[in-house]
Amino acid sequence: MLTYQDYQRSAQYIRGQIGDFQPEILLTLGSGLGFLAEETEDPVFVPYGQIPHFQTSTAPDHAGRFVFGKLAGRRTMIMQGRLHLYEGYDAQQVAYPVRVARLLGVQALIATNACGAINADYKVGELMLISDHIRLFDPDPLIGPNLDEFGPRFCDMTYAYDPELRQIAREEAAKLGIPLHEGVYFYFTGPQFETPAEIRAARLLGGDAAGMSTVPEVICANHCGMKTLGFSLVTNMAAGMLSQRLDGVDVLQAAEQAKDDFSALIRACLPRI
Ligand code: HPA
Repeated sequence: MLTYQDYQRSAQYIRGQIGDFQPEILLTLGSGLGFLAEETEDPVFVPYGQIPHFQTSTAPDHAGRFVFGKLAGRRTMIMQGRLHLYEGYDAQQVAYPVRVARLLGVQALIATNACGAINADYKVGELMLISDHIRLFDPDPLIGPNLDEFGPRFCDMTYAYDPELRQIAREEAAKLGIPLHEGVYFYFTGPQFETPAEIRAARLLGGDAAGMSTVPEVICANHCGMKTLGFSLVTNMAAGMLSQRLDGVDVLQAAEQAKDDFSALIRACLPRI
């Protein structure tokens, strides 16, 4: 069980690395999206493995480090690679960086991920603004003794994805001429892709996109009072939507194609958050 002191020790170590840089926004970069961290001004890199109590990312294309620096004029703390349940970490370990970011003064989380489209109107390479998520059976990061220093035992999730930030994202996407779907992210732990029957069930329940990340972080961000904005990049049609198998390599290829839109949209939103 992680204690409040563990989070404090991690934050203290990071402060020692970044000096008087005070991050405002935490940006988590999903599979294939790590390139955005390279655009940071005067970056300071802090590998997860060096931080007390941290775990490191093992997923392909996840560098496993924080990048602190300015992006679009904002002081950002970027997770170049995140942790996933499927790597063997529990939900609290996966969400750990969010609470550490809060202790460093961060007020808002922008979470990004790769997803499989459940909604037949979506196409590979398009972006979805997350309006809400569904986590029915998978582990929850808030289970266990509540850390009152971060937030209440029973945390409200009515506006888990902040309505004002979503409006900003819609406006900026329209200005840039980037098509932006808005839909519900259905959380699966992976690592295997879903079965077609699971995808049909998720669609019946209201899911528009399937993915293996983001939800633990968003739950903890809400718990500790951070505003959240989430973007999913459609890297494939979910299992059973097309008569072909899914291949993890396609995820990275699709992310590569959508790079420019993705980067432009995040950069346009940052100054308004
Ligand atoms: N399912 C779950 N996670 C994903 C997918 C998918 O089809 N594509 C990219 N991440």
